[in-house]
Amino acid sequence: MPKFKFNRLQWVVHLGSIIPLLVLVWDAFSNNLTVNPIQEITQRTGRTAIIWLVLSLACTPLNIIFGLRPFNQVRRPLGLYSAFYATLHFITFLILDYGFNLNLIWQTIIEKPYILLGVTGFLILTLLTFTSTKKSMQKLGKKWNQLHRLVYLAAIILLLHFFMALKFINALAIAIAIILASLLLIRIPIIRKFFIKRQPAWSRPVNNFLTGRKKKTITIQK
Ligand code: HEM
Repeated sequence: MPKFKFNRLQWVVHLGSIIPLLVLVWDAFSNNLTVNPIQEITQRTGRTAIIWLVLSLACTPLNIIFGLRPFNQVRRPLGLYSAFYATLHFITFLILDYGFNLNLIWQTIIEKPYILLGVTGFLILTLLTFTSTKKSMQKLGKKWNQLHRLVYLAAIILLLHFFMALKFINALAIAIAIILASLLLIRIPIIRKFFIKRQPAWSRPVNNFLTGRKKKTITIQK
């Protein structure tokens, strides 16, 4: 039996991240995917991918604002789950929706700007996924950080893709836009410093709870 050395937060992230897939598979087998199942799969996988992307982007700010360091450990898995659902979303488009008709797919990409945005965002996410390993980090050195800042560009592009794909703007799209704008604001050095100085005292017990550890967790951040 393989032994997983996950803490509480990591378990929640891994188990929580496979729930949308399990629900999708369950609904598919029980014929519960509306009258247009392909559209339903495209929409569900797209929504899950963008929510998980925003969750991964929220990890560093949760550490900066509240001193919740264990979230640093789940940023990468959340990003990888986002890329996984984005891949399912793309495969649904390519195979189920367009029957892998490359001419038609190419035509759609150049004719519909929101599809072009989706593909661009997906390509950036794919590049970041393949360079998210420790090996790439060591190889690229300082350039790794610069490269991985592209995740914000991808998130903005994919937010536009989301808005343009909708017939009517909904609460999820507005929520994602507001959260993303806040996450970008927190990256501004002066705002970042303001929060780092004011990290709450309750972060230590919460960190211990999240990691399931009794020992002290250091919450100081440069
Ligand atoms: C790989 C290239 C992509 C293609 C070809 C693509 C295609 C599509 C299409 C056709 C729709 C409209 C579905 C419908 O309502 O009929 C859609 C919607 C959407 N896509 Fe993408 N997409 C791509 C990448 C992405 C990525 C990378 C994300 C997120 C990380 C994403 C998130 C979404 C969201 C949130 C929606 C709206 C779902 C809803 O209606 O609630 N897409 N996409």
